Amino acid sequence: MSGRALAGKEVRKIGGRFGHVKNMYYLCAKKKNKIEDMFRNHTCGELRIADAGKSVTLAGWVQRVRKMGGMTFVDLRDRYGITQLVFNTDVNAELCERASHLGREYVIQVKGTVNERSSKNPNLPTGEVEITVEELTVLNSAQTPPFTIEDNTDGGDDLRMKYRYLDLRRTAVRKNLELRHRMTMEVRRYLDGLGFLEVETPMLIGSTPEGARDFVVPSRMNPGQFYALPQSPQTLKQLLMVSGFDRYFQIVKCFRDEDLRADRQPEFTQIDCEMSFVEQEDIIETFEGMAKHLFKELRGVELTEPFLRMPWADAMKYYGSDKPDLRFGMELVDVSETVKDTEFVVFKGALENGGSVRGINAKGQGAMPRKKIDKLVEFAKGYGAKGLAYIAIHEDGSWKSSFSKFMTEEQMEALIKAMDGQAGDLLLFAADRNKIVWNVLGALRLELAEQMGLLDKNEYRFVWITEFPLLEWSDEENRFTAMHHPFTMPMDEDLPLLDTDPGAVRAKAYDIVLNGTEIGGGSVRIHQNDVQEKMFEMLGFTKEQAHERFGFLLDAFKYGVPPHAGLAYGLDRLVMLMAKEDSIRDVIAFPKVKDASCLMTEAPSPVDAAQLEELGLEVEPQAEEETTEE
Ligand code: AMO
Ligand code: AMP
Repeated sequence: MSGRALAGKEVRKIGGRFGHVKNMYYLCAKKKNKIEDMFRNHTCGELRIADAGKSVTLAGWVQRVRKMGGMTFVDLRDRYGITQLVFNTDVNAELCERASHLGREYVIQVKGTVNERSSKNPNLPTGEVEITVEELTVLNSAQTPPFTIEDNTDGGDDLRMKYRYLDLRRTAVRKNLELRHRMTMEVRRYLDGLGFLEVETPMLIGSTPEGARDFVVPSRMNPGQFYALPQSPQTLKQLLMVSGFDRYFQIVKCFRDEDLRADRQPEFTQIDCEMSFVEQEDIIETFEGMAKHLFKELRGVELTEPFLRMPWADAMKYYGSDKPDLRFGMELVDVSETVKDTEFVVFKGALENGGSVRGINAKGQGAMPRKKIDKLVEFAKGYGAKGLAYIAIHEDGSWKSSFSKFMTEEQMEALIKAMDGQAGDLLLFAADRNKIVWNVLGALRLELAEQMGLLDKNEYRFVWITEFPLLEWSDEENRFTAMHHPFTMPMDEDLPLLDTDPGAVRAKAYDIVLNGTEIGGGSVRIHQNDVQEKMFEMLGFTKEQAHERFGFLLDAFKYGVPPHAGLAYGLDRLVMLMAKEDSIRDVIAFPKVKDASCLMTEAPSPVDAAQLEELGLEVEPQAEEETTEE
């Protein structure tokens, strides 16, 4: 028997025993088969004026019931749209009466005829037609939902998260998931076209070196031992390069136990990629190409120009951030040289301690009320500033300043000139160690842009940040840590500095930033034993420690490792920006809330004593919550 005949027989057999399966099969194939008797032969989003006169069967959820005179109107919804149903007392009083008792979110099936509507709704794709219903079947009743399932819902955040499955019935969230689906399809199409192979890597592994805390999973079979969930498949994808899979990708869940933010979830999805026999330039070209492909296919946006590239040092100097938002200017200006001879202790002290004085010019904000400026000062303090000095230039050119009493007239004029201060501008200054000044002014720049309405979600400003420092000094650990991860290759010309000035060594590492959000990052990896050993030494690992943590990788590298490099995009962030949302929560089906819990499934939760015992675990009783004293 041929495969085709066998397949045909099986479909019939399944259809005979499980009617609904048959119906689903027919729904997919309806255009060819024209089968009449089934659950539905149209969705709630597809009927148009050209369908007038057709007999149709629809199924879906009741969005709304309206009674007007002898008529009852029902909005029927499914994931494709909304179609208006109409029941007329004069035609069928009993049916109209039943329709008027339908509750919100009841699941119903109707048979009827498509008619042109007398009062058309231009906001609805199906708004020119309605279904005059002849048969109504209630497939299931529903409790009144805890919030209205409409675009402008009355449900608060927590309520919508608790009943996320209802929230997902709303158009906005549903559209985001559709976009997400299309993005993963396009990613696969683009990468498959370039010969990339999708390979799955395990979720139960040892610790990965991405710098966040691990989520750990106890092993029943190995009491007292734990797996870590991958922070990324970093080491595994490098092993795949050793195996010869020279173009790998994976759309993969990653887990990081860090505090949640608008663009950070404890579990998130990466488009993780790695290539062999490539240099940084190949990676940038390939994955810039992917971003362009996605914007073209999913948004119709043609990004024809090469993306801007900016060395890390410039990003910090001009934007105070390694993920600069380039939709607006307001660059940082280093005025250390201009103020170096003043008596203002704040400026003088910062410079004497090896720091700097930098400012930003908030154009046209010179008339900002004192109270609002005070709020900016508080904002700056939240980012580690000790204060925020300002000069407000009035429209007549005169100015008011928080520190003019410590400066001469000439020094003030020179400072205003250095900042290109014009009538109506507000100049803000931070003086401290560079790291703090960048942090404060970088954040302040974004805050002001938000307040000044400079952030246009329809504008897409991409930039590659390159030449990251290889190492970052950690005061807490009193040692260097890897800025990206320990397998990142130093820049060739900086290799000699590893011995003399490790902090100045730049890496072959790159991030891709869109509108101030880091959407991806990667690096060229070390494939030479001596460089890797040197790197571990810099990071303060002994040979034994390095072997204990990454022995499997170092061993693998002894068997012929090709030069390789890679990158991972954050899928959630990319979808968030394309969907013009402010949080990745809005593009994840079932996200976590601030304390990393899931309000819907109530995870995390305690486990049975028996389960703990089986795992050889003991949980210390938690201290009573300190509520009364505080
Ligand atoms: P990195 O740590 O930069 O690199 O992560 C890559 C991208 O993943 C996204 N991302 C997140 N998205 C949501 N929530 C989070 N908690 C979160 N953390 C990261 C970001 C980021 O740019 N293995 C390396 C990649 C490589 O070197 O090839 C890595 O994981 O968009
Ligand atoms: P003070 O003499 O302390 O009142 O400070 C004068 C001005 O300098 C005030 O506007 C302070 O907010 C500001 N200021 C204090 N510390 C800093 C700092 N580290 N950087 C910039 N401005 C500061």
